[in-house]
Amino acid sequence: MCGIVGYIGGRTAYPILIKGLQRLEYRGYDSAGIALVNNTNVNTYKCRGKVKDLEKLIGTQDISGSIGIGHTRWATHGAPNDTNAHPHVSMNGKFVVVHNGIIENYTFIKNRLVEKGYTFKSQTDTEVLANFIEDIYLTSKCSAEEAVRSALLRIIGAYGLAIICTDEPDKLFGTRKGSPLVLGIGNGEHFLASDATPIVEYTDKMIYLNDEELVIATANEIRLTNIHESGDKQINVTKVDLSIDNIDKGNFPHYMLKEIHEQPLTIADTLRGRLLPDAHEIHLGGIADVMPRLMQAQRIIIIACGTSYYAGMVGEYLIEEYARVSVEVEYASEFRYRNPIITPNDVIIAISQSGETADTLAAIRMAKERGALILGVCNVVGSSIARETDAGIYTHAGPEIGVASTKAFTAQAVVMTLLALQLGRKKGVLSEERYKSFIDDLVNVPAAINRILADEDKIREIAEKYRSASNSIYLGRGLLYPVALEGALKLKEISYIHAEGYPAAEMKHGPIALIDNLMPVFVLATKDRYYEKVVNNIQEVKARQGQVIAVVTAGDTVIRKMADYVIEIPHTEDPFIPLLAVVPLQLFSYYVAVMRGCNVDQPRNLAKSVTVE
Ligand code: M6R
Repeated sequence: MCGIVGYIGGRTAYPILIKGLQRLEYRGYDSAGIALVNNTNVNTYKCRGKVKDLEKLIGTQDISGSIGIGHTRWATHGAPNDTNAHPHVSMNGKFVVVHNGIIENYTFIKNRLVEKGYTFKSQTDTEVLANFIEDIYLTSKCSAEEAVRSALLRIIGAYGLAIICTDEPDKLFGTRKGSPLVLGIGNGEHFLASDATPIVEYTDKMIYLNDEELVIATANEIRLTNIHESGDKQINVTKVDLSIDNIDKGNFPHYMLKEIHEQPLTIADTLRGRLLPDAHEIHLGGIADVMPRLMQAQRIIIIACGTSYYAGMVGEYLIEEYARVSVEVEYASEFRYRNPIITPNDVIIAISQSGETADTLAAIRMAKERGALILGVCNVVGSSIARETDAGIYTHAGPEIGVASTKAFTAQAVVMTLLALQLGRKKGVLSEERYKSFIDDLVNVPAAINRILADEDKIREIAEKYRSASNSIYLGRGLLYPVALEGALKLKEISYIHAEGYPAAEMKHGPIALIDNLMPVFVLATKDRYYEKVVNNIQEVKARQGQVIAVVTAGDTVIRKMADYVIEIPHTEDPFIPLLAVVPLQLFSYYVAVMRGCNVDQPRNLAKSVTVE
């Protein structure tokens, strides 16, 4: 959470920082701020609210300076207000800091600083850090670099930091531990940011910092060191393949709608080079080297959070069905703290769009210590999870900016499907004939999603009807149970309507008591092996006057007679139904949220990348 950005070079820093903060706003949006350095003069502007509020605040004030840092916040310590907004300036004005993360021992440090006469304006851990660095700097009479290093060695917690020392205003310091940080290398200029999106417009040459590395950038030079020693480290420059088009809204009113509509293309991208229809083969290059160990696995444990967890459930059902390997799916936050039994015969698959989710990262580290093989399914290339896993499969869905995950979910589900089918074939569980017919059908999934998107107006009409609902239920069985959970999560996180996802057959064990004529019930009722049973579940809802919106296979005439609304999806083979069935649920949530006047791309209290536990 929180986005940080920094610039040092020959241009005016302000527009670069503001644009960078807009690109990072998905990471947190309760307050924003920037500090601009002009010689030794520092202007700091910050306020509660969004980057546009910051721009309004700055108005015609002094924006000169070719060095600066900026921040967009998701509050951890201290309420979202003007004072707690970053940047934080140390008491004697020597250090200016923006921070993404949590300093766990800040109270201890703060008490020591108070004893020494330091006073604090904010409730933040970041102001404590700024003063801590300053205190070391002034008492030890050392360089800014040494003061930063010395402070970092004594703090406990997670950080991505951009720091300026006003006595050395030609330097920008960047460091990370647990929170991401990227340095962009331009021509006579350098950029710092939480991810590549604010930098990509200026350069494709980047350095992804590792934990505990410290970079010191001037306009023309960089030195990479770590927090333990001042010696130079070797610099590995990555060429980032990301275009501005990927991170702009284009003609869509919201990123979420753009990302829903991108799915035919993103799924094709996920499949590219992996699904070889002519050869009737699946090729997963990223895990080829570890395939023998995966084939031997006694058990696969999938760890993830939120939407990625539901994609993991899709993977569980598919791997157990088609490869006959035992699979468990675990919330990373529970897994990491409950002392699970993990053996070297287990394979862990961590699923994460951002590749930075703190709980998932911590769970990976724990499982690694216990000898398991760790695989990653990440979207963000070069992210922490992608780098800390033994091998992995990128989802290649492109940047997902809307806080509500859509195209990342379908891309994750595609990867899990490919893995299940490949494993099933290699193990001989899946016959060659069935495997080939699945491959033939999977190729058609992008076109099938295009057909669902063509029905958007109808879904908007249904949204109009239920926009004022206070509660809703989503029911599905088998592979459509995780889709029901995902549909419910989409609705609650962006429209703030209470929504429950349930296995359809579980309804009669409790939730059926909630059903009355005001309760919209989404039933995922496609023609699969559960069809007849789900039809019975629809009857049970209708018998209690519930409103049924059914997602059915095209041409279904039975459910059309029972349900209040039907949304048709094209026929496809069972393993691919989740990829289609989720799309109308995404569109429904989107339109309901828009009609209720909610901020679709930046829902309240949420952030895209959850880098705190
Ligand atoms: O980046 P990750 O996939 O690890 O993120 C996990 C969850 O935070 C994320 O899926 C969250 O639930 C989304 N807001 C769902 O739309």
